[in-house]
Amino acid sequence: MNDVTIYEVGARDGLQNEDTIVGVEVKAEFIGRLLGAGLPIVEATSFVHPRWVPQLADAAELMEILGEDGRHLPVLVPNERGLDRALELGLEHIAIFGSATETFAQKNLNRSLDEQFAMFSPTVTRARAAGMDVRAYVSMCFGDPWEGDVPVDQVVAVGKRLFDLGASQLSLGDTIGVGTAGAVGTLLDAFNTAGLPDDVLAVHFHDTYGQALANAYAAWQHGIRTFDASAGGLGGCPYAESATGNLATEDLVWMFNGLGVDTGVDLGALVATSTWMAGILGRPSPSRVVTALG
Ligand code: HMG
Ligand code: MG
Repeated sequence: MNDVTIYEVGARDGLQNEDTIVGVEVKAEFIGRLLGAGLPIVEATSFVHPRWVPQLADAAELMEILGEDGRHLPVLVPNERGLDRALELGLEHIAIFGSATETFAQKNLNRSLDEQFAMFSPTVTRARAAGMDVRAYVSMCFGDPWEGDVPVDQVVAVGKRLFDLGASQLSLGDTIGVGTAGAVGTLLDAFNTAGLPDDVLAVHFHDTYGQALANAYAAWQHGIRTFDASAGGLGGCPYAESATGNLATEDLVWMFNGLGVDTGVDLGALVATSTWMAGILGRPSPSRVVTALG
């Protein structure tokens, strides 16, 4: 057991925003290298509508290539159609992804804030009946590009409702990276008060304003022990204006190494992987640690 768990999203959140389609064999190698670098959880892909996220249209093919190694890797699933596709492949972990705001629910899921629950509820019920583990994400926790500030009560109400569908963990998404350390503490306190302790929460920071690492530190001090991050700082959401890359996994590992907090990750192997992927994508990684060590 490591002191903290890094939930690696580079293969999903990292690649979903890339316009140039990355080959399925490259994706499989990316995931293999991330696992080889010691990352305990690697979210592999999304079983969303292929027209909505063309980069991940090869989800089934990817999971077939990964075979037995891929069964325990989480994948995004928005609805029963996505669940059926995941079940056909014998996958064991899915993640649903809800929105704390009305506008992003419409833009990302083609549903209203309330309608999203009608989509997720039967999906989670069937997934749990099939013995799957379910993670829930809630997006736009710290601000929304169309609606501005999002009231803490609204984030907590949506997040708790998503979690209560039957999830084992709720990941709090700063989709557009506007959150700051004080707001992180406030939101975590509010979730704790609503009955969700730190050990069922994870944090998912995008780095648009350069606050992701400070926010992760604030969350760690609060008591959070699961951190989403993306190798090389890749990432973004095609349906969220101004969403840029995620917190770079390397930057997070560097910080935890300095704190003497064990992540189980081999930083050298991870940097080599992100440098290799940056070469494939044709531009340098935005991660400061990858730049320094690569
Ligand atoms: P819709 O158009 O409303 O779908 O999209 P529908 O239910 O009306 O169905 C229309 C057709 O799509 C049907 O086919 C369905 O079978 C098919 P037809 O009968 O017309 O031939 N269909 C599917 N096909 C394959 N796989 C599926 C699927 N579902 C329906 N799963 C939908 C609704 C939810 C599908 C769509 O809006 C969608 O795919 N959205 C996904 C958007 C997305 O992936 N965004 C990025 C991930 S979220 C994120 O990045 C944030 C996060 O990182 C956290 C953070 O940063 O905050 C997680
Ligand atoms: Mg994200």
